[in-house]
Amino acid sequence: MQDIAIIGGTGLASFPGLKIIRKEVVRTPYGSPSGPVTFGDYCGKQIIFLPRHGSHHTIPPHMVNYRANIWALHDKGVKHIVAVAAVGGIHQDIEPTRIVIPDQIIDYTYGRPHTYFEKDLSQVQHIDFSTPYDQALRDKLIKAAELANINVFKGGVYGATQGPRLETTAEINKLERDGCDVVGMTGMPEAALARELEMGYAHCAMSVNWAAGRSEELITLDSIRECTEVGMEKVRALLAKLVEIV
Ligand code: HPA
Repeated sequence: MQDIAIIGGTGLASFPGLKIIRKEVVRTPYGSPSGPVTFGDYCGKQIIFLPRHGSHHTIPPHMVNYRANIWALHDKGVKHIVAVAAVGGIHQDIEPTRIVIPDQIIDYTYGRPHTYFEKDLSQVQHIDFSTPYDQALRDKLIKAAELANINVFKGGVYGATQGPRLETTAEINKLERDGCDVVGMTGMPEAALARELEMGYAHCAMSVNWAAGRSEELITLDSIRECTEVGMEKVRALLAKLVEIV
């Protein structure tokens, strides 16, 4: 599996261990990506890295230019994207710091530019999105987790909410009834845009809190930060194995 990019999420704005070869400012017809595209060497393999929220984590989920990000990666020849994303755990087995490799998505976002298919169309386009994630890439992530001795939650539904606020308990109850196992704010339209450009996409999602109403405790930025730090160590170990086996 060649030409792999990692989109870093909350907690992965920079990528310790990545030896930077060069950075490139990529212009796209959709404006600027979240930052320069970084070409680097990770554990002996060439990869591309792009922090979704910018290098200083200043771009909130509803303001990320998803079209520019995915376009820029495609422009640089990327064929596969591993999207690292912080999520809240809804399923009882997805406690904070657990990693999830979801297999489905429900999109609750709104008002985000979400498609490339709106200009100069010779005909209307509809992508098949029945299975939103690239199965081969998911399999590799799960294999990498096994090799790294990390007990990931295999499968599950990612509910993409608008943010930036967290959800109400009633909203999480509704998401649970819909079948969502985790909730995050960045999974869409990112995954669909990758599919529109025929790139394989998979989530490496990490629970950084119990979703609203799933714990007695308030969800605070401090507790999210703590879990992110612990969890991201696991994500890095998993990605190190992934680049070994792709
Ligand atoms: N809800 C939505 N997005 C999130 C959460 C959450 O609880 N935690 C991390 N990203």
